[in-house]
Amino acid sequence: MLKKIAVDKLKPGMYVAKIAVQGISLHEHEREGRIKDQKTIKALSQRGVKELYIDTEQGIDSPDAIPMEQSEKLLDSQIKEIADIGQSQDQNVEFEQEFEKASKIHTEALGMVGHALEAAKMGEMIELEGFENMAENFMDSVKRNQNALACLSRIRDKDSYLMEHSVNVAVLMSVLGKHLKLDRTYLHHCVTGALLHDIGKVLIPDKILHKPGKLTPDEFNIMKRHSLYSRKILEKNHGFPQAAINVAGQHHERLDGRGYPEGLKGDNVSQEARMASVVDIYDAITADRVYHKGLPPSTALKRMLEWCGPHLDTQYVHAFIKAIGVYPVGSLVELESGLAGIVVEEVPGSIKPIVKIIYSLKQNNYVKVIKKDLSKSNCNDKIVKTLNPDDYRINIQDFIL
Ligand SMILES: [Fe+2]
Repeated sequence: MLKKIAVDKLKPGMYVAKIAVQGISLHEHEREGRIKDQKTIKALSQRGVKELYIDTEQGIDSPDAIPMEQSEKLLDSQIKEIADIGQSQDQNVEFEQEFEKASKIHTEALGMVGHALEAAKMGEMIELEGFENMAENFMDSVKRNQNALACLSRIRDKDSYLMEHSVNVAVLMSVLGKHLKLDRTYLHHCVTGALLHDIGKVLIPDKILHKPGKLTPDEFNIMKRHSLYSRKILEKNHGFPQAAINVAGQHHERLDGRGYPEGLKGDNVSQEARMASVVDIYDAITADRVYHKGLPPSTALKRMLEWCGPHLDTQYVHAFIKAIGVYPVGSLVELESGLAGIVVEEVPGSIKPIVKIIYSLKQNNYVKVIKKDLSKSNCNDKIVKTLNPDDYRINIQDFIL
């Protein structure tokens, strides 16, 4: 059985199945194996590992370890509690009304980021004005109805990761900023930075950037330079506001100083970089890559909750959960009626979303697609839990629009 345990409760003879909470570096190797001695425990702790999952069938058990199922349930209820307090995302226009505009903005943004990546590769200048206008478009669309752009962000193509990730991080930054009621000019700078936060990746050799597998420690060290390059590219192009430069240069810094490129600590990590880390990680871990399957949105939120504190800024993780809801757009959920559906819209002031019913769990087959607004008083169906689309071979993208 998999159980979660704090690193200081580890003992030689336990079998580490995976690392639950560490100084998050998405490319870092996860190590599996039996703990041989205290030295290994010390090394794990020094690497920033806080909690791990042990396999009690392959190694010794501990009364301090919590079964994984139990710890997941605990995280689920924590997320519900966080989302329930003060969640109210005003949507000024209907989803359908915003969707067409949002699609146009989304497509245009992908093209613009694509061009900027090419320009940066050739050492050419990036035109700030276009990105400023695009950031404005994002903020306006999210203000009108954030579900439209959020929905589009769930549709992805493995081969255009860098472009899509850049656009998605900017969308999510707009959503988070709207929830936090950030000053418009400041948010504008943050969203502009988000659009270009990973631009430095164009200077990373292709064989590392596109490696279809985990990076070696040496390769990862090269990869780590990308945020420094991002900062330098933006600094070279005159006029980029400082907050945008900080988003690009500091989005991998961590509060405990274990981030990169500078290992900034605590207050030295700017507010905009703290927000950028939250939205960057959410998008990165929910994305399908060549070498790993993306996490379902609700699972991603649980992992991020575990990373709060030394790594991610707790107030921004909580704000993000409130902003995107307990069942983010794109989540597959099981309803009490035995039907399963995809969350397509959040309802202002409610933790009950609008779900597109697609599947019968009782009959194990697809059903006629209908939309169900769970927040309506005459709707007596409710969400039981989130499901992993892979378990049912459901491709979310086929149904989201
Ligand atoms: Fe990055």
